[in-house]
Order: sequence, then structure tokens, then C-alpha cells
Amino acid sequence: MLLGNDDWWRDAVVYQVYPRSFADANGDGTGDLQGVRGRLDYLARLGVDAIWLSPFYTSPLADGGYDVADYRDVDPRFGTLADFDALVAEAHGKGIRVIVDLVPNHSSDQHPWFQAGLRDRYIFRDQPNDWESIFGGPAWTQVEDGQWYLHLFAPEQPDLNWDHPEVRAEFRDILRFWLERGVDGFRVDVAHGMIKAAGLPDVGAKDGPQAEMLGDEQVPYFDQDGVHDIYREWRPILDSYPGGRMAVAEAWVSSPERLARYIGPDELHQAFNFEFMMADFHAKSFRTVIEKSLAEAELVGAPTTWVLSNHDKPRHVTRHGSLARARAATLLMLALPGSAYLYNGEELGLPEVLDLPDELRQDPAFLRRGESRDGCRVPVPWTAEPGCGWRDPWLPIPPEWTELSAEAQEDDPGSTLNLYRAALSLRRRHPALGGGTLSWLDSPEDVLAVERDPGLVVVLNTGERPVPPGVAGEVLLSSGPLAADGSIPPDTAVWIQRSGSATIDS
Ligand code: GLC
Repeated sequence: MLLGNDDWWRDAVVYQVYPRSFADANGDGTGDLQGVRGRLDYLARLGVDAIWLSPFYTSPLADGGYDVADYRDVDPRFGTLADFDALVAEAHGKGIRVIVDLVPNHSSDQHPWFQAGLRDRYIFRDQPNDWESIFGGPAWTQVEDGQWYLHLFAPEQPDLNWDHPEVRAEFRDILRFWLERGVDGFRVDVAHGMIKAAGLPDVGAKDGPQAEMLGDEQVPYFDQDGVHDIYREWRPILDSYPGGRMAVAEAWVSSPERLARYIGPDELHQAFNFEFMMADFHAKSFRTVIEKSLAEAELVGAPTTWVLSNHDKPRHVTRHGSLARARAATLLMLALPGSAYLYNGEELGLPEVLDLPDELRQDPAFLRRGESRDGCRVPVPWTAEPGCGWRDPWLPIPPEWTELSAEAQEDDPGSTLNLYRAALSLRRRHPALGGGTLSWLDSPEDVLAVERDPGLVVVLNTGERPVPPGVAGEVLLSSGPLAADGSIPPDTAVWIQRSGSATIDS
């Protein structure tokens, strides 16, 4: 089905669904595709343009589904292909597009190729080199006959050999398989990983784990030039389908300039801008990142993306230190030019769950490195009853989350759910939001003030004292209550429809 406008992704709000944790229709404690389908009205009411489904493919779930055993089928825990088709049809009927995750860097060790011993499709060597797994420990595991295979992640996730033509052909075919089923795009997992430096050279001397180098320096297994050939093969495939099929890269690279290389009319449409997610809650840090991101967007002639939370990082309520700050950061994000990616549950203001018992944690990174991403993957609370609408969920839901449930927030005008709804609805209606330009207004160091054309001003106060809004106009939305004299309290952001001049006094 065509939903119009091929450029829809440029200023879209995309909602990430982590299927295991989103909604459980069959009551087995694991979310499923029917569960997602049952919440489409909720998502339509929230006002998102698209959903991105994290992997729901056949998988032993050694890494939550990022270990795929069959790229063309649905894991029985999540449903069937028929459920998937019904979900896409119904989502499209409600004006919601559907993006799926594509995991090309590695398969599961249960994939038929690995099981059949087709070693040329993977990376086997007689001796390992010094590469380390992102999840901790060596990136090599030895098999019975003494050979070693490479896994940049868990041992259950052998890296594919992208020098092999069959691997390339297979993924072109997988793309077509899902495009034929009507998906609107792909989120490309570890998009910077598929090509390794020739000869697999050692990383060499270093202090501390290699994972700490990522983002600062280049390592021989990430961000190699050859990866761009793959995207140049894929783009014509995406473009050959009608309706604006897109791809967004998950690429952890050492600079915005390197990230920009993934984007363009002959490669991918977008890449996640993780710098915004990593920024401190301070006007200065946000401004630095926003300026860098916009400069990069200009460089590639495509709008950037904004992310505050996802399934790999602690939720931003916890990261930024409070719900008030999270709400304020959200209003900033949703007013910036480009597209925004939301993570399921952030619209409820969910915090990271920090006290999961170790024996319940399932993240492979926890076992290997002691750091766990399970705390942001706790199932989404739906009802205000004990259990929050889940029976025996795969991770326990804190009992106090009944108060954060969608049901509890539904009719509360001050709830985070209703803040997101109001922001997304205004974003759709207001001509200044979405794409377009941004200009900086003068403001004290702790205050960030930007104007979106025409006349929508966003002011974020990250300081310790209330500040006057600095512009005359109507407050359209505020992340928290304003003071009686209209000044903006600490940790608060406002959207103002400007009617006068703009200066913010220190
Ligand atoms: C990506 C995913 C993460 C996964 C890893 C390996 O970073 O977002 O969840 O563990 O790739 O596939």
C-alpha cells in the first residue's frame, strides 16, 4: 500500500518496538506481533509516523533476537508470517509505516549455513588475532578441529564473510523478501561492521578494552571503506520499490564526518545520531551536539536523526537524572529539524530498572562484561492492575510501575504520555516543526533557546534558577509547570509561539 510522500522519513517520528517487551497477546510472558497489532490504535493516538520492529525472526534469542537463524521467518514466540502480514496491513491502514531490523554482520550459530559447516560464508582462521568482542573477551571461538571463528559479539553470533558472493546475494534477496511484504524500510544493525580490514591485522597495543576505543579511533573491524559498496548495491533495490522505502544505519564511527559517508542518494537514507543520546543534560552540551549534527546534515544534504533512548542504552529518565529532565530533553528533541526515534516506554517516562536480580538478566554482555542492557528491556506496563497486564513476563516488572502504566496515565493531563501526545500532535500541525531551519537566540549559558521558522521558539532551562522565557508569545507546550510569573523553572523546556522580539536576560 502506498502512503504517499516518498520523503516521509525526513521528518518522521519513528517508534522502536522491542517485540519481546512491548505487548503480549498470547499471555506467555513474551511480547509478540499480535500484541503489537493490538496496540496500533495506541500508537496512532500517540501520533507516530512509523514503527521500527527490533528482530522478531527465528532465533535462539542468545542476543534478544540479534542472532538470526532464519532471516525469512518469524520466531514462533513472536508469531507467524501471517501475523506479520496482518500487522503491516493494519498499520498501513492506520497511516503507520513499518521498518524492520536487518542483521547482516552476523547470523546465529543456529543458522543453516553455520550448522551445515559452510565455513567459507563465515570468518574462520587457524589462529585468532587480538580482536576483542564488543561484549567482552576474545572475538574468537575455537571449534573441534582446532580452527577459530570470528564473532564481534557473542560466540552464538558468528560474523558473516561479506567477501563471499553468496552472502551478498543472500542479503539482496532478504531485502527483496521483506520489501515484497510491504515494509517501508530497514534499520541496519552494526552497519559499520560487515567488512574487515584485509588480512585481519591486529589492533595492537592499547590500554584497556578495545570497546573503549570505539568512537575515538578506527579499528580494523569497523567502518572500513568496503562497507559502502554494500550500500551502493542495496540502494537501487530500495529505490526499485514504490512509496519511499528507506534504510537507517546503526553505525558507531569516530566522527560525524565518518557517519556522513553512510548517507546519500546512492547509499543509506539516514544514520542514527548517537551523539545527541550521549550528550549531558546541559544547554552547552546539547548546543554543541546540535550544531555538529546540523553541520553534518548540511554536508550530506539530508536531515539528521535524534535519539534519546533505545534498547542498548540506559533509559534517559535515569541517564539524565530525573523525569523532569527527560521530559524537557524530549521537548527539545521533538522540536529539532529531522526525524526522531522514540523507544517503547519512553512515552510513559519509564526509568531504567537497576535492581534486576543477576540470575534473571539475559543480556550476553552481562555474562561477558558485567554490563547489562536488560534494565531498559523490562516489559512495557499497560494496565494499572498488579502485573501491569502481563502474566509471568520474561523480566519482572517493578510493582510500582502500575502507576506508570498507559492506563494510569491515559486521563491525566499532566502525564508523560499526554505530553508526548500533545508534542507529536503539535509537531504534525505546526508549520515550523519537522523539517526546516533553526536559529540560535541569545541566552545565558545554562539556557538553550532556538527558533524554528516561522516563530516557534524552544527554551530549555538546564540551570539552577528559574529564567524568564525571553520572548513574548503564547506558551504552546511546557514539559512541566511554569512559575506564576511565567518564568521557566530548572529542568524545564517550553515551546512558545512567538509574537515579539527575542532576548533572554541572564
Ligand atoms: C546492535 C544492536 C544490539 C546487538 C548488537 C549485535 O548494536 O542494537 O542490541 O546486541 O547489534 O547484533
